Amino acid sequence: MKNGLPENLADVTIPVVNVPDHPTRLELPAQEKAALKERIKSMLQAKNAVLVAHYYTDGELQDLAEETGGCVADSLEMARFGTEHPAQTLVVAGVRFMGETSKILNNEKRVLMPDLGATCSLDEGCPAALFSEFCDRYPEHTVVVYANTSAEVKARSHWVVTSGIALPIIKHLAERGEKILWGPDRHLGRYVQSLTGVEMILWPGSCVVHEAFKAEALAEMRKLHPQAAVLVHPESPQDIVDQADVVGSTTALIEAVSRLPHPEFIVATDAGIFNKMRQLAPDKILLGAPTAGEGATCRSCARCPWMEMNTLERLANALETGAGEIEVAPELAARARIPIQRMLDFAKTLKK
Ligand code: 13P
Ligand code: SF4
Repeated sequence: MKNGLPENLADVTIPVVNVPDHPTRLELPAQEKAALKERIKSMLQAKNAVLVAHYYTDGELQDLAEETGGCVADSLEMARFGTEHPAQTLVVAGVRFMGETSKILNNEKRVLMPDLGATCSLDEGCPAALFSEFCDRYPEHTVVVYANTSAEVKARSHWVVTSGIALPIIKHLAERGEKILWGPDRHLGRYVQSLTGVEMILWPGSCVVHEAFKAEALAEMRKLHPQAAVLVHPESPQDIVDQADVVGSTTALIEAVSRLPHPEFIVATDAGIFNKMRQLAPDKILLGAPTAGEGATCRSCARCPWMEMNTLERLANALETGAGEIEVAPELAARARIPIQRMLDFAKTLKK
């Protein structure tokens, strides 16, 4: 450890990320909302479009995706679904890297997003030029990046991973004797490192939502709920992961709520995930892990401000006007596709 940080944390100064305020939500009267949903459904059909939503988006939007033959999934499955579905337009409700990944994998399809301003603190904290310069200092290292990055950063990497597949990919690379440079999430990187024993150089990025969970407050909460299992997304800091019964991707955490016998769960990830958890395990008590306590800013409060930009109104507007179309230059897409495709091909070998 050096100044309280691991030795292998990259000595780069990353940009301070400007976190938007949580949008004030105006609840539409029930009749208007029902009419809006019907309009979205007809437009999806008329435009040969399918809705692909992340588990952190608004519950109503998630339900609409499923009702209309689309999907609600983690970032790995969202990427896969888009490649396998025949629709000509993919409407990606999530954050920008998810839309870009869909476009990179489906260059012939139109990819729309409700709000192109929906970014991610990991993506923002890893500018391509700075990252590329850093990678140049380690020419003998394999560059592995988390999916939460721009197309340019992906194009500079050898492998893309999501939280759902990071562990087996890093193990695979280590078995081949490769040295690894990991970016941009230092918490996920540290977690993968601790389980695999593989030393990696870590880019110092982080997720503003998961970093807001507070260890002491969580310990107090556990005392008050001794029957609860603690579910943690690995973008969380070490002192939160240390208290977990299950650490995993959004899909793994949802699956844990159905599988485990516990009557209660304390969940350290974005609260949007409760929609699917409630559907699958209506009898279980679900509690959000605390983000209050010393140092709390409540800039996140377990709600990703960028995921919140996905509203029904903006979704309707994107379908109606074609606003929010994702463009990735074909040459860039071709380079970024290589490490993403590597991940998808590797995922297939695990399924066999
Ligand atoms: P998953 O890949 O687990 O869906 O996570 C994506 C994400 O952005 C978590 O904050
Ligand atoms: Fe990015 Fe964190 Fe939001 Fe996920 S929750 S999209 S990692 S800022």
